[in-house]
Order: sequence, then C-alpha cells, then structure tokens
Amino acid sequence: MPDIAIRPFRPSDRSALRALVTRVFPDRDPLERVATHLFATRGEGLLPLLGIRAPRFWLADGPDGVAGMIGLYRRAADDAPWVAWFGVGPEGRGRGLGRRLLEHAAETARREGHDRLRLYTSTHPSEAAAQRLYDRTGFRLTGRRRPLSWRLAGSPLEMLLRERAL
Ligand SMILES: CC(C)(COP(=O)(O)OP(=O)(O)OC[C@H]1O[C@@H](n2cnc3c(N)ncnc32)[C@H](O)[C@@H]1OP(=O)(O)O)[C@@H](O)C(=O)NCCC(=O)NCCS
Repeated sequence: MPDIAIRPFRPSDRSALRALVTRVFPDRDPLERVATHLFATRGEGLLPLLGIRAPRFWLADGPDGVAGMIGLYRRAADDAPWVAWFGVGPEGRGRGLGRRLLEHAAETARREGHDRLRLYTSTHPSEAAAQRLYDRTGFRLTGRRRPLSWRLAGSPLEMLLRERAL
C-alpha cells in the first residue's frame, strides 16, 4: 500500500477525523467516538486530568483521504506506552493498513527506548477483527476484567489487556 502515508495529525484534519471516527465506530457508545475525537483535537488540555500523558496521534492518508488512525499515550502509573484510538475505515480494511499502523506505533515506541507496548481492547463483537490482528502481531493477552464503570453502565463486555515486547 505504497500510496498511503502515515503522518502526524494536524489541526486541519479535524473534520476528516470526525468523519473517520464515525465510520470506524458506528455502533459504539457515542462517548467512545467523542473521546477519540477529543483526544486528537483538544486532548492536551483535558487528558492529563484522566491520567493520560504524552498523547500523540497519526493518520493514514491516501488518495481518497484519511483512511486510518492510531494513537500512543502513557499513564501516570506506568512508563510503558499504550496504543489507543486505533482503526481503519471499513472500505480500507483487509489490505494490511491496520498492521502498518500498529508497526508505526511499535517502531516509534522502540525508537524512544521502550521495550514493550500495551493496549486494552474489549470483547465487543465489532472488535473481533482487532483481536485476530493483535494475536498475529504479538500482542499477547495479559488479563481480562470487567471495570466497575462498565458494570455500572450495564455493559456485559470484558476489557482485554494485551502487551507486546518490542
Ligand atoms: C482492527 C482494524 C484496525 C484492522 O484494520 P485492517 O486494515 O483491516 O488490518 P489488516 O488489513 O492489517 O489485517 C486485517 C485482515 O486483512 C488481512 N490482510 C492483511 N494484508 C492483506 C493483503 N495484502 N491482502 C489480503 N488480506 C490481507 C489480514 O490477514 C487480516 O485477516 P483476518 O482479519 O482474517 O485475520 C479494523 O478492522 C478496524 O478498524 N476495526 C474496527 C475498530 C477496532 O476494532 N479498533 C480496535 C479497537 S481496540
């Protein structure tokens, strides 16, 4: 997929990002979508309050516009970087772009001296393809839980914790 470049998010990407997030997470909690958008646009101001540090965000840019996204952040209690806000628009899937985005995040973390990369995901059916990709790219399952906030919201989903050595 040589015609797709992965590059840092720019403020002028806001409306394209909003459209992509809606396509990537059409049936998810609207909060999930708002959170992804906030992260990329004005996250620097709000996210430290949630314990999220050093957020960064990249877009995959192709001939038809923005096709995918991925972010990295750190947590106050944990020095390892975490992957988040990862997705590819439905029309661009199955061609290796998801794998390339994950490799980009891993390579960035490796270059910065980290030896592992973490993420959390869930048992939501719309994330089944993501589980296969994580398994194939070395993100082993390190835990599963049902966070209190999810239980209080009545969600039957489990949070899956994954980690990959770099
Ligand atoms: C998870 C997600 C990002 C994967 O993106 P993607 O671009 O389709 O990922 P890839 O193309 O690298 O890999 C996906 C599949 O395509 C196949 N594939 C990869 N390159 C290929 C190629 N050149 N030709 C044919 N198939 C290919 C892979 O083998 C894989 O197959 P599988 O799912 O049957 O195991 C995408 O499905 C998505 O956005 N899902 C919804 C959001 C989501 O779940 N995000 C993660 C939340 S934790």
